[in-house]
Parts: sequence; C-alpha cells; structure tokens
Amino acid sequence: MSSKSETYQTLLPQIEALMAGEKDMIAKMANICAALHEAFGFWWTGFYRVIDSPDAQPAGKELVLGPFQGPVACMHIPFGRGVCGTAWQRAETVIVPNVHEFAGHIACSSASNSEIVVPVFSGGNIIAVLDIDSTDFAAFDETDRLYLEQIVQLLTNP
Ligand code: SME
Repeated sequence: MSSKSETYQTLLPQIEALMAGEKDMIAKMANICAALHEAFGFWWTGFYRVIDSPDAQPAGKELVLGPFQGPVACMHIPFGRGVCGTAWQRAETVIVPNVHEFAGHIACSSASNSEIVVPVFSGGNIIAVLDIDSTDFAAFDETDRLYLEQIVQLLTNP
C-alpha cells in the first residue's frame, strides 16, 4: 500500500468522526480543508460553493470561495471556467497533472503546478467543489480521486 493510501485510510475515519452529528456545512467544509491540508501539506485546499447569482451566465449560478487553507484565492468562478468550473460543468472529478497546459486554467497562484477538483453532490445536484492545488507536477491520481470522492460525500451523508 502506498503511503498516500495509508494517509487517506488514517484520515477517513477521523473525518467521519468530525462530521458525525454536525449540521453546519461551512463548519464541516472548514474542518475537511484543515484535515487534508495538514495531513498532506498541499499548497492550497478549499471549497467553492455553488451560489445563486441571477446575473451569472450561463447558469444563473456561480462558484464562490468558501472555507480554505492556503494563500488568498479568486472569489468567483463562472460555470465552465477554469478547472473548478469545468468539474462543475462535467459533474465529475477533474485531475490536471500540469495546470499550465489546461486551457482556461485560472491561476490564483503561480506556485501551483497540478490540481484536482472534486464535485460535491447533494440530491443529484452539485452544491460545491473541493479544489486542491500542489506545487508538484502530477501530484494527484486515482488514489486521490477514490478517497476525496468519499470524503466530500461525508458533507452530505455523514
Ligand atoms: N485554479 C482554479 C482556481 C482556483 S485556485 O486554484 C484556488 C481553477 O482553474 O479553477
């Protein structure tokens, strides 16, 4: 077993315990960010929430910065824009080994070299995305997808 899997397997029950009985979405997102960021030492770990925004084209909604750990980041992301907006549009996890080669990537920090964005589903709708950036190239793989998809579902199915 890789050390990455071991770290996730240690973290998963800890996050389950943190989420148990907690109803406040912001509080849960904040602690998931902190737990992941501390365990792995990522460059940036945070949530963008899907927020109604009547003027936002084309969805009438946009992604707005939520709880995060790391440097300041852009606060609004349109549907289909950047890695976050693309994961929202495709309704699936997007793994980008080299963000500099991703058309439309939104560079909140020039230090970020790879990224994973995981949608958060609730009742069939996407309510947020988890965005993680690394200064390493190709930092994220199917192991991250596997565990992060389980972790974000603890937000809505504790
Ligand atoms: N790079 C993201 C924007 C958010 S920051 O990385 C924190 C994107 O392309 O959607």
